[in-house]
Amino acid sequence: MMKGIVLAGGLGTRLKPLTTITNKHLLPVYDKPMIFYPIQTLVDAGIDDIMIVTGGTNAGDFLRLLKNGKAFGLKGLRYAYQEGEGGIADALGLARHFAEGERILVMLGDNIIEKNITAAVEKYREQKDGAKIILKEVDNPSDYGVAKLDGDRVIGIVEKPEKPKTNLAVIGIYMYDSNVFDIITTLKPSGRGELEITDVNNAYIERGNMTYEILDGWWADAGSSIDGLLKTNSMVARTGANNK
Ligand code: G1P
Repeated sequence: MMKGIVLAGGLGTRLKPLTTITNKHLLPVYDKPMIFYPIQTLVDAGIDDIMIVTGGTNAGDFLRLLKNGKAFGLKGLRYAYQEGEGGIADALGLARHFAEGERILVMLGDNIIEKNITAAVEKYREQKDGAKIILKEVDNPSDYGVAKLDGDRVIGIVEKPEKPKTNLAVIGIYMYDSNVFDIITTLKPSGRGELEITDVNNAYIERGNMTYEILDGWWADAGSSIDGLLKTNSMVARTGANNK
């Protein structure tokens, strides 16, 4: 059985002062706290065993907000605490004991999508091993991890490139086999002092074990700027999110 992990740590620096006294994933997006959306995406993809990784001074608020996941039809939720701000890959490393060798579907707590990823997850379930990422064409690729393709293969990802080679952003939804945790232990901190998820993905690409899908419907990274948060609020209000 595939397990789900929602990463909801970090300082939310790009959203200050909204994040001075709370974690960005608890901020409102239209009529729900931000983290509700990625949890719903995983549940809609058929995942019912989910861990939330968070940290900082508001970690306890996640427990009070989400409790045992009843609002999502779950029987329970698991939680892990990230000490410090070691980055997305560092946070994911904390889920090793939870994954117990199963495949994982990882979603960043500030990513919101219009539709669903059911088809992509089905394809990944049929894949023998390795990883799968999801790409979306964007106008501002320099704000994201950017993928380079060669035919139907992804041949490399560059994190926030100044001169992006394509406009294909790597969105914050990743599918991994159990090798991901060994890959994480080999990573070195990047220029921003974090273990980068892009380095994890490039390790799979080097092994020739990475596939991709193109996302259907809009994708929003609600936590990367105040304008992004505002835009996400209006998109969710207009079309809804996690539509079938
Ligand atoms: C992270 C990843 C980046 C990805 C983005 C999606 O960026 O590092 O590759 O495209 O999430 O939301 P961050 O939000 O940490 O700057």
